[in-house]
Amino acid sequence: MRLLVCGGAGFIGSTFARIRARDHGDEVVVLDKLTYAGRRESLNDVDHVFVHGAIEDPAAVGAAIEGADAVVNFAAETHVDRSIAEPDAFVRTQMQGTYVLLEAARERGLRYVQVSTDEVYGSIQAGSFTEDSPLRPSSPYSATKAGADLLVGSYAHTYGLEAVICRGSNAYGPYQYPEKLIPLMVLNALHGDALPVYGDGMQVRNWLYVEDFARGIGHALERGAPGEAYNVGGPDECPNLEVVRRILALTGASEDLLEHVPDRPGHDRRYSLSSERIRTLGWEPRVRFAEGLERTVTWYRDNAWWWEPIRSGEYRAYYERQYGRALRPAS
Ligand SMILES: NC(=O)c1ccc[n+]([C@@H]2O[C@H](COP(=O)([O-])OP(=O)(O)OC[C@H]3O[C@@H](n4cnc5c(N)ncnc54)[C@H](O)[C@@H]3O)[C@@H](O)[C@H]2O)c1
Repeated sequence: MRLLVCGGAGFIGSTFARIRARDHGDEVVVLDKLTYAGRRESLNDVDHVFVHGAIEDPAAVGAAIEGADAVVNFAAETHVDRSIAEPDAFVRTQMQGTYVLLEAARERGLRYVQVSTDEVYGSIQAGSFTEDSPLRPSSPYSATKAGADLLVGSYAHTYGLEAVICRGSNAYGPYQYPEKLIPLMVLNALHGDALPVYGDGMQVRNWLYVEDFARGIGHALERGAPGEAYNVGGPDECPNLEVVRRILALTGASEDLLEHVPDRPGHDRRYSLSSERIRTLGWEPRVRFAEGLERTVTWYRDNAWWWEPIRSGEYRAYYERQYGRALRPAS
C-alpha cells in the first residue's frame, strides 16, 4: 500500500511510518511542514519520500498525494500550553488543514484516517469514555481537534468518504519533543534542572506506548469501519506526580529537583478511554507503563544526538517563557 503520512516528521507519525515501512512493506510518503516539532532526523532510519509542505496548502497536498492508496493524518499543532498562548496556528492546521486533506481524499476516493486524541471528550472523574460519549473539549488544542473530528465524520456521512478516526490516550516513547511531560522530566532530571509539576500533580493520564498507538492506527487503517471512531487507550493510568517520581528513580536524580508550579489554566483532571471497539479489530496494547517508561528513559539517555539540538535551540526561550526560569546551559 502507498501511504501519505501527514505530519510524519513528528513523534507518533514517524513511529507509524517506521512500523509501516519496516514491518508491512508499505511505500511511505511523508508530507510535513516541519514546524518546531517536526524533525527529519526522526525519519533517518525510515525508507520514505519526503515532501516539505503544509496540509492547508492544496498544491503541496496535490503533489504529495499522487499515487497514494490512503491518507493518514497526524499533522497538528499538539501542545496544550502553546494553544493557550497562541491558538491561531491550531485553528489553521487542525481545521483548514484537515479540510484540504479531506477534499483531496474525496476527489480521489481514498481511504482516510484522522489521528485524534482522548482530550476531545474532556475530563472524566470516574469510569471511561466510549466513542459515543459527547465531545466536551476544554482547551483550544482539544477544541480544534474535536472540530476536525466532526468534519471528518461529516465527510463519511455526507460524501461516503471511507474515513475513520483513531483517538489515542497520552502517548509517550522515543522521539517525543521535550515540551511534553515525560521527555521534559527525563531531560531535566538528566541535566539536574528542576522538574516543574503543575499544581498538585494529581492529573491522571492513561499512558500509551507510542508503538502501541501506531499499531492501533494501523488496525483502524486496514480494518476500521468507514465513519467509525476508535479509541486507543493505554493499559495503565498514573497521576503526573507519580510519573515524575518514577522518572527520578529511573534516572537516579534527587527528589529535591521536584518543584510544584502554578497549574495550567483549565487543566483537565483525568482522561480515560474504553478501547473495546479497537479490540474487536484485534488490537491489544503490548507495553505496560513500567516497561515503556524504562525503555523511554534509556532511549533519551542514549540518543543525545536527537535532543541536544532542540535543547540548545528555540526550546530554551519557550521554556523560559513557560516556566519563568532558564534551563542549565548545555554541558
Ligand atoms: N502525543 C500524544 O500524546 C497524542 C495523543 C493522542 C493523539 N495525538 C495526536 O496525534 C497526532 C500526532 O501527535 P504528535 O505527538 O506526534 O505531534 P508532534 O507535535 O510531535 O508532531 C506534529 C507534526 O505535524 C507537523 N505539522 C504541524 N502542522 C502542520 C501543517 N500545517 N502541515 C503539515 N505538517 C504539520 C509538525 O511539523 C510535526 O512533524 C496529532 O494529531 C495529535 O493530536 C497525540
